[in-house]
Amino acid sequence: MAIRRICKYGDKILRKKTKQVDFKTVKKELKSILKDMLETMEAAKGIGLSANQIGLDLKLAIVRYRKSEEEFEDIVIINPEIVEQSGSSVSEEGCLSLPGLFAKTKRFTKVKVLALNEKGLPVELVAEGLLAKAFQHEIDHLNGILFIDKLPFITKIKLKPVLRKLKKEWAKIDESKQRKGNRATGDRVTSER
Ligand code: CO
Repeated sequence: MAIRRICKYGDKILRKKTKQVDFKTVKKELKSILKDMLETMEAAKGIGLSANQIGLDLKLAIVRYRKSEEEFEDIVIINPEIVEQSGSSVSEEGCLSLPGLFAKTKRFTKVKVLALNEKGLPVELVAEGLLAKAFQHEIDHLNGILFIDKLPFITKIKLKPVLRKLKKEWAKIDESKQRKGNRATGDRVTSER
């Protein structure tokens, strides 16, 4: 198990359509991939994470569904597809790949998603509200789309200089984290060589 680095805005993998998962091929590694994704999502205090956010080219995501303060369920979606959608609402949205940035984003209020679950079985998920938004956000990720793409044209223009600045900051933070990480595991790395 490990907390993985979350790819930030500017990383090319976030703009690529992920590969359809062949369940039989990933079956063996799936457990450890999902564990890493969960740990990474929890450490970053997110409510969803797509595989490409941790650098894996797989059409696979997790979404945390909160039933109450203490009760939650983590939903795994493999090769998900939105097959029905209705209503629309605007609410503030953020993304672990764009830390600290929030913007009012338009989403469908209700969606029906077809996917495979972690056992490779087909599931049909009908969601409303926050869960519906989380599904749309993660499925967008798997198609190389970020929430900032959904913003009105004027907002996008205004965001451009902000994004440029943030991108540099995120790169710096990532760099210093990696340096620290290397130092911490330096001995182990050397002995493994
Ligand atoms: Co996101």
